[in-house]
Amino acid sequence: MRKKIIAGNWKMNMTFDEGQKLTSEIVNMFKDENITDVQLVLNPPFPHLHPVKKLIGDTKNVFLGAQNCSDKESGAYTGEVSAKILASFGVTHVILGHSERREYFKEDNSLLTEKVKQVLANGLTPIFCCGESLEIREAGTHEPNVKFQLTDSLFGLTAEEIAKVVIAYEPIWAIGTGKTASSDEAQQMHQTLRKHIASKYGQEVADSISILYGGSMNAGNAADLLSKPDVDGGLIGGASLKSRDFITIAKSY
Ligand code: G3P
Repeated sequence: MRKKIIAGNWKMNMTFDEGQKLTSEIVNMFKDENITDVQLVLNPPFPHLHPVKKLIGDTKNVFLGAQNCSDKESGAYTGEVSAKILASFGVTHVILGHSERREYFKEDNSLLTEKVKQVLANGLTPIFCCGESLEIREAGTHEPNVKFQLTDSLFGLTAEEIAKVVIAYEPIWAIGTGKTASSDEAQQMHQTLRKHIASKYGQEVADSISILYGGSMNAGNAADLLSKPDVDGGLIGGASLKSRDFITIAKSY
């Protein structure tokens, strides 16, 4: 059975006090609503990691994630944060390959392969992002484009390794725009990616991998998106900064 995961990508938002308030609200609501079969992953900016982890405590099915990590193990890389350091703070998941990092920080598929290896080597779960631009979607070449992102970054992994990866399909034209992919569009791409993984690693591995949707998922459209057989969860930006909306999404299965 694939894991149902709702991950909140806070991006570069939340002061210390705002993050503490948001985390406390989310954890308390999650407990009060008795949501049992969904995993929440909170992905704050790096400085929040320790205080957010303290608030999560040992709450079942609530996990701490990071938004990035270095491709290096350790050493003289000023400003970088290694997967090893993240693991020492109780981080379990790391978002990699977000389109904003590919665009603004020029992260390419080969760099991301090294980051995925670092995350796996430290016993953490990569949340590997992929997705096409509006130009590619309008050209109708989005499926080969996104399949290649997986091939070029992940298909050098063993079956055991890739089975530990969570995929997040985030059409770039839907991120932060309020223009969400339709549930049919999401299902079509998720199914395509799962078949692509199966073509290399077999159906059993492909069926075990959670594929999340990201791109303006919110409390109003989550139920439709999550009703699709190959949509296993969401990677949420804006709506993850509002505790009630984020929990409503987690309840939308
Ligand atoms: O990583 C998730 C993010 O890119 C989606 O952002 O604001 O469209 O939910 P948003």
